[in-house]
Amino acid sequence: MATIRDVAKLAGVSVATVSRVLNRNGYVNDETKRKVTRAIETLQYEPNAVARGLAGKRTGTIALILPDISNPFFPEMARAVEDVARTNGYTVIFCNSDCEGEKEQSYIDILLNRYIDGIVFASHTLRPDDVKRMKQHNIPFVVLDRARADLECSVVRSKNFEGASMAVRHLLEVGCQKVAHIYGPQDVIPARDRLLGYEQSVKDFHWYTPTLMEPGDFRLDGGMRAAEALMERHPDLDGIFVGNDLMAIGALKALLRLGIQVPEQVAVCGFDGISLAEMTEPELTTIAQPIYEMGALAAELLIKKIEGAVAENRIHELDVTLIPRKSTQRETRS
Ligand code: RIB
Repeated sequence: MATIRDVAKLAGVSVATVSRVLNRNGYVNDETKRKVTRAIETLQYEPNAVARGLAGKRTGTIALILPDISNPFFPEMARAVEDVARTNGYTVIFCNSDCEGEKEQSYIDILLNRYIDGIVFASHTLRPDDVKRMKQHNIPFVVLDRARADLECSVVRSKNFEGASMAVRHLLEVGCQKVAHIYGPQDVIPARDRLLGYEQSVKDFHWYTPTLMEPGDFRLDGGMRAAEALMERHPDLDGIFVGNDLMAIGALKALLRLGIQVPEQVAVCGFDGISLAEMTEPELTTIAQPIYEMGALAAELLIKKIEGAVAENRIHELDVTLIPRKSTQRETRS
């Protein structure tokens, strides 16, 4: 059965564009509409086949549990989940766990008693016991982005380790001689994988020392404080790979306050690819995750599980992309 990603690939457009054509929301030019329609016909993609063929669909409702609704990364992801859900005849209940295990467990209790059809977990506090409860209640679920390695379930995430290596390589290629890292909370698998990717990339350089790694909290002010601490400890560093875009924006503010020129004195690269990264001055170079595609794939996998069309429990790792912007655009030192 063709998926929305197959249609996007054949039409040469993004999954978001296919969603817009199917849901008739947002602008799509006629030529693109024709390409998408032709691809749908060629592949005989039937988004509503799932909804139309549903015998005994219980409620047509799925839930998405997010860890931090205040971080723009998650609304961008939630948009994709909602688009694909609507295309297939489902509505979405959004829950914000605030990264708290107890809050997530209380949501699970409520949701299991509300007869929803399935859950996408974008949080990182899901425990093996919760997995057991979901299976006992026969509630399909998919883990998106922050999967724990010990859970037997379908996972959609991006290549965090490789993305960190890409960031460090880019900073070195633009001439950085000493690169630091501000990392996210280590109970979050993507943050841990990015830290490992950074360490793997720099551990053999003569200038490397563990004090070049500073903890952050994936938030703006955490990034600002971490950058201040790094510059205090290593005033000669000239590149910082930051574990997410919000902390990188905070780091830009700290460097500005310290009178440090970006990128001339210190080049900065973030991670995520949120749209806010284009609004900073200088604009932020980042490692972009396929945020929309991740959310769309997770929703598709969940709906297929709900309908019994797929029973796989495997990890889907999607590629990330370097987006060079002004925060690393410096003359390469000869
Ligand atoms: O910015 C929020 C971070 O948490 C992102 O990097 C994303 O991967 C999530 O895990």
